[in-house]
Amino acid sequence: MATSPVFTDVLIIGCGAAGLSLALRLADTARVITLAKGPLHEGSTYYAQGGVSAVLDAGDSIESHLQDTLIAGAGLCHPDAVRFTVEHGRAVIEWLSEQGVPFTREPNAEGNVDYHLHREGGHSHRRIVHAADATGRAIQTTLEARARQHPSITLHDHYSVVDLITSRKLGWSGNHCLGAYVLNRHTGRVEVIAARFVVLATGGASRVYLYSSNPDGSTGDGIAMAWRAGCRVANMEFMQFHPTCLYHPQAKSFLISEAVRGEGGVLLLPDGNRFMQHFDSRLELAPRDIVARAIDHEMKRLGAECLYLDISHKPAEFIRSHFPNIDAKCREYGFDMTREPLPVVPAAHYTCGGVLTDLTGRTDLERLYAIGEVAFTGLHGANRMASNSLLECLVFAAAASADIRARLPRVPDPPALPEWDESRVTDSDEEVVVTHNWQELRRFMWDYVGIVRTDKRLQRARHRVELLLREIAEYYGNFRVSNNLIELRNLALVADLIIRSALERKESRGLHYTLDYPTANDSAPPRDTILVPGNFAGKEWDPRWLDRIEPT
Ligand code: FAD
Ligand code: SIN
Repeated sequence: MATSPVFTDVLIIGCGAAGLSLALRLADTARVITLAKGPLHEGSTYYAQGGVSAVLDAGDSIESHLQDTLIAGAGLCHPDAVRFTVEHGRAVIEWLSEQGVPFTREPNAEGNVDYHLHREGGHSHRRIVHAADATGRAIQTTLEARARQHPSITLHDHYSVVDLITSRKLGWSGNHCLGAYVLNRHTGRVEVIAARFVVLATGGASRVYLYSSNPDGSTGDGIAMAWRAGCRVANMEFMQFHPTCLYHPQAKSFLISEAVRGEGGVLLLPDGNRFMQHFDSRLELAPRDIVARAIDHEMKRLGAECLYLDISHKPAEFIRSHFPNIDAKCREYGFDMTREPLPVVPAAHYTCGGVLTDLTGRTDLERLYAIGEVAFTGLHGANRMASNSLLECLVFAAAASADIRARLPRVPDPPALPEWDESRVTDSDEEVVVTHNWQELRRFMWDYVGIVRTDKRLQRARHRVELLLREIAEYYGNFRVSNNLIELRNLALVADLIIRSALERKESRGLHYTLDYPTANDSAPPRDTILVPGNFAGKEWDPRWLDRIEPT
């Protein structure tokens, strides 16, 4: 058994808003290694446009943010998680400002310079703090620059985690997380990193669908790794589709921020008529599930390839100053949003479910945390409200950092860990299996497990994913790992979890809409869908987990 070549206090898997803010908050008391599987900036955070929601306006209130979130979440938000999150909004915005994030500001009524606030769907007030229309880029680059300067933080790009190492997997006593096996994509070798605490900050899984607003790496790695390590996963049926991505063959689902609708943008049919009045009294600012479903419905009814988003009635200068990046990107593709409606379609955008955690980010497995989009904290319920995600990343990074710092003195160094065993695998001569399965998976998830579902479609998807899981397991057992294989293996597992959760929910609620049960079941209190792995890491069975499902 070899000695672990790398040891750290805290291993953070993920370099987005969640991972970097945790690293910075821990760095004065702990040695931290933070990993990204591609370039450091490449996660959803970098692409976030609208901003971060927080109660900052004198006319706004915590109660109002809380109520809006509960309404958008369609009865499934955990009120304690919502209150905890929204109450910490102001503090995390101030922390980001101290780090140097250049939020957009403007003079307020009293003549003082204050944050400029946008409004988005579901919010009854202006409460979205933003850096023009590229808020995520401003957060990512600022935090990344700070982290690079800190001597206690080691950042590794192109390090792709294959799996978590747990004492149970090694056949040792106890059950806690000890570190991870990591593919160093620079050398092609799998390395061992041992840590006293491991944190999943790996983002979401929206790339399980053919069309997505997310970067390629949103493949649900953290959810799959946690499940394999014995953690419960909740509410995976609630995959959010953003209503308005630019429709253009080369645009690769470029997002047109909800803030465009917040500033007066309207949705149009191909004949130029508005239609949201037929679906919701809040019109274009109804929560996302309603707007995405309305667009999907109208596209299917008319056989249209896209619908349109129009803000050209506003002055050109107003549009360019509020949305400089969106305007520039649209021009690259030949559209002038100051003069014409933009063609738009919905695309998979956000994973509301994830690894079950408490309010400190602790998972079922000792010494393993999950924060950011990978986690299920109870904040989003059946539908995440716009701009509540970055807020969740920042609030739970702060909470996890406080918890880890308090526990560090009591947790011993991990023992030496065994090296990755490659003795029974060879190089693949059939890479096509990976690319083929990848495409097949995303296509049937889009067709059968998308915005509108039926039991029959879900069953079809289930049969296909079972075949894929078998084929991928065999391939994984025989060949050396590559980043593509790691992602495919995780995506297929996450697809399975989504399908199983969707089949469990015999009603339509929030983002889960099925023609077989088109309304919410109001005869019983709404329940989360909690999947429990066969190797469940929790110590005691809790009878509140009524929705228990054993893997087949
Ligand atoms: P990410 O930022 O996605 O980072 C994930 C990290 O994990 C990456 O560094 C990745 O390399 C790493 N990683 C993943 N798997 C592995 C592995 N196996 N090994 C090593 N590293 C790994 N939310 C808002 O609140 N407001 C917005 O305005 C907003 N706009 C958005 C616009 C777009 C286009 C998109 C895609 C999302 C938007 N969202 C928005 C959602 C929000 O951006 C994300 O939910 C949030 O940024 C997630 O942050 P994160 O830190 O959890 O993960
Ligand atoms: C957007 O700008 O529309 C995205 C906001 C979000 O996903 O929260």
